[in-house]
Amino acid sequence: METNISKELVREHQLIKTILRLTRELVANAYQISDEQLYKTSGELVKFVEEFVDDYHHSKEENILFAELSEPGVLQHCNPIGQMLYEHETGREHLNGIKSAITKKCIEALKISLIGYCDLLEQHIFKEDNILYPMAENNLTGERKQAIQLAYRQLEKSKESAVLWAKYEKLVEEIRGIIAQVSILRVK
Ligand SMILES: [Fe+2]
Ligand SMILES: [Fe+2]
Repeated sequence: METNISKELVREHQLIKTILRLTRELVANAYQISDEQLYKTSGELVKFVEEFVDDYHHSKEENILFAELSEPGVLQHCNPIGQMLYEHETGREHLNGIKSAITKKCIEALKISLIGYCDLLEQHIFKEDNILYPMAENNLTGERKQAIQLAYRQLEKSKESAVLWAKYEKLVEEIRGIIAQVSILRVK
């Protein structure tokens, strides 16, 4: 069984980072995109954060990896889990800001909340990829890593992850399409 317990989380981060980059592009080009389109795509981004980031990726982290890392004696010197959980919560607050801006139909608030979410999550992912995950690989025993893998597999099954991946890889293409359309308009 695969004993690297961060590889698939890093792969999930890659899809998240791609969507965050596209969100920034969307906001930068918002003046050329109709309000209706912007609200619609932002609604899809909300779904992505709820279903893929929070309910899938953060579930794997909070309920499986972080839970193991919080066991006594695993991380002896410095335990960044509290900070990571705090950042997940802050992300949920930004998400509420995005939802409320969509409901109130306020483009400026929407742009601010979207960028706030991107800023938060990008730096969060950087810390996990470069500090927390290497720490987990170095400090967990082979036995605990196997238990984590088993728990990951169960979660993958219960969340129907293949459907989630396909859905949000399609969203990447959809947003790329919107941005490409705007770029063509700019060249004309
Ligand atoms: Fe995280
Ligand atoms: Fe993460």
